[in-house]
Amino acid sequence: MGAGIAQVAAAQGYEVSLYDPSQPQLDRALSGMRASLEKLVSKAKITAEIRDRALGSVRVVRTVGAAVEQATVVIEAVPERMEIKRSLFEEVDRLAPAGALLGSNTSSLSITEIASCVRDPARVVGLHFFNPVPVMELLEVVRGVRTSEETVDAAMELAKGLAKTAIVVRDFPGFATSRLGVAIGAEAMRMLEQGVASAEDIDRAMELGYRHPMGPLKLTDLVGLDVRLAILEHLHREIGEQFRPPAILRQLVRAGKLGKKTGEGFYRWDL
Ligand code: 3HC
Repeated sequence: MGAGIAQVAAAQGYEVSLYDPSQPQLDRALSGMRASLEKLVSKAKITAEIRDRALGSVRVVRTVGAAVEQATVVIEAVPERMEIKRSLFEEVDRLAPAGALLGSNTSSLSITEIASCVRDPARVVGLHFFNPVPVMELLEVVRGVRTSEETVDAAMELAKGLAKTAIVVRDFPGFATSRLGVAIGAEAMRMLEQGVASAEDIDRAMELGYRHPMGPLKLTDLVGLDVRLAILEHLHREIGEQFRPPAILRQLVRAGKLGKKTGEGFYRWDL
């Protein structure tokens, strides 16, 4: 998602520094960004000038320090594990300017807990984007217990700058979106386990019967099975039994079938 966030920011005129410790991941981010911008130009959603400006405004950097030392906004999009998020925030806290807004693109983890490892938790806020980031309109702004009013206002301004529509939610596991999203996804997986219908027909049912743009199993493939498993495990711990991850999800993740990004999940995808 980091690539999508970087793309949107660059297309909207921000100067972006993009960091990832893995070079193949950075290569994938840049090629995904090029393909997405190309698609938007071919659909006349953006001009060729904006595409070129966006590509020229993303600077790939080799260290966290180089990414954040001059930043006004830092957006973290690392895997959904609290210890990884906190260790990155500790580093960013040391290296970013004191006035920078620190945002986490977490799907469900506690912003209050992430913020508790930085010196000024008032400047930490949830900035939850949606896949595919260049297309989806929503930005969920999550207010932690110690997030300041100024930080929430700055996050709302940022949403405007990124041409997203924002909602503000309280820091509660799963926020306003992931909680409902994974509930439908997990129920679809249990229905598949129980042989109610094929994956294709469960998805078709929600696409044609409820006008969801994409069925819940296909959507899980798009988001990443590992991502959805991490969210479910967290909500199972925090909220209760209704979020117990289905066995089929655990099995597919163990097998490395993580969805579109690995070429297979509930469906097969061309890489
Ligand atoms: N970059 C640029 N444009 C893209 C794109 C991308 N990565 N992906 C799709 N598009 C554009 C296409 O150009 C097309 O534009 P058009 O409407 O002008 O024709 C439009 O999006 C539709 O694309 P397609 O025709 O290829 O395919 P679909 O019509 O099936 O749409 C979809 C694809 C936009 C992904 C749609 O199926 C959809 O909205 N699916 C649901 C997505 C969703 O629910 N996301 C939230 C997931 S939860 C999440 O992300 C939270 C996180 O915490 C895990």
